Amino acid sequence: MTADWEALRVAAVEAMRHAYAPYSAFPVGAAGLVDDGRIVVGCNVENAAYGVGLCAECGMVSQLHATGGGRLVAVACVGGDGLPLMPCGRCRQLLWEHGGPDCELATRRGIVTMRDVLPDAFDASELDAR
Ligand code: THU
Repeated sequence: MTADWEALRVAAVEAMRHAYAPYSAFPVGAAGLVDDGRIVVGCNVENAAYGVGLCAECGMVSQLHATGGGRLVAVACVGGDGLPLMPCGRCRQLLWEHGGPDCELATRRGIVTMRDVLPDAFDASELDAR
C-alpha cells in the first residue's frame, strides 16, 4: 500500500493541535496509515507527575487497536513546528511491534524504514527463540 505522505502529515499536524503538553510546551502529533487504509492518530498527553506522560505515538497505537487493529505501514510524527519529529527510543519500540521492519517513517532526511531507525530490534521473535 502506497502512503499519501501529505495526508499523513496533515493528520499528524491536526492531532498535534490537540496535544496536552502544559509542562514541556512541546506538542507532538502522530499519524499512521494502517494496512486496511485507515489513518490513526495520537497526540502527547502529559501529567503533573512528569514521568507518567504519554507520547503521541502511544496514543496512536492505542487508537490502532481501539478501532480494529491491523498493521502500521507508514507513520508521520510532527512537532509544534509541523516538521517531522524522530520518535523517541520507546516509541520506536512501539512502532516496531505494530508495524515491523518495513513500516515507513517520514523524517527530515526523507522516508526511511523502521529497520533503519531501530536496527537489531528486540521483538517477539527473540522470545520465541529462547
Ligand atoms: N514526545 C512524543 O510525544 N513523542 C516522541 O517520540 C518524543 C517526545 C513528547 C513527550 C513529551 O510530552 C514531549 O514530547 C517533550 O519530550
